Amino acid sequence: AHVVNADFVKSSVRPDDCPRDGLPEFALVGRSNVGKSSLLNSLVRRKRLALTSKKPGKTQCINHFKVNDSWYLVDLPGYGYASAPQEARTNWDEFTRNYFLSRENLVSVFLLIDASIPAKKIDLDYASWLGQNKVPMTLVFTKCDKRKKKKNGGRRPEENVETFQGLIREYFEAAPPWIMTSSVTNQGRDEILLHMSQLRNY
Ligand code: GTP
Ligand code: MG
Repeated sequence: AHVVNADFVKSSVRPDDCPRDGLPEFALVGRSNVGKSSLLNSLVRRKRLALTSKKPGKTQCINHFKVNDSWYLVDLPGYGYASAPQEARTNWDEFTRNYFLSRENLVSVFLLIDASIPAKKIDLDYASWLGQNKVPMTLVFTKCDKRKKKKNGGRRPEENVETFQGLIREYFEAAPPWIMTSSVTNQGRDEILLHMSQLRNY
């Protein structure tokens, strides 16, 4: 499960433009600013392979990164970014949903959920859509290093994680696998890489 090398391959604006070599891939999806690009960097132990930002809306395309010359991590734009123009949001929604349903070499979608705040409706809706469409999914809780704050609902990450799982249970036949992570402490990094290697069968 060790990452030896990782390279940026290409940015695509449509599923049709994505690499066609059929290598297994894992997509990172989640609300804008949830930490998709940061998690990718943590997984491959690089600071700035994928670009990150304090401001939501940083990642704008489907970005393919090849790991160990044999599989892909895919960084996607976030959903739920209220300041993006409506047209851009509709576009995003269309191309990612299209990509999830049609991409044959997509092994599993990694849905990232911010564990430092209570469940958001848009995340529950997204999980529900993936579950109902039977898209293979793994739940990744991010920002588990952040301690509880009154303004964040005053709950610990563990409590938010448990509540979220309870709320999505009805959308899945079996509860999806889940992993708690932090891109600051690298919590969960080895667990994710091991899980990905098991899903690839090597
Ligand atoms: P978009 O590309 O806009 O959809 O965002 P993204 O999901 O790729 O988020 P990104 O990785 O750019 O991170 C957003 C902000 O959250 C940055 O300021 C990160 O430093 C911060 N962040 C990401 N992961 C963590 C984490 O595990 N812990 C903490 N404390 N901050 C994090
Ligand atoms: Mg990003």
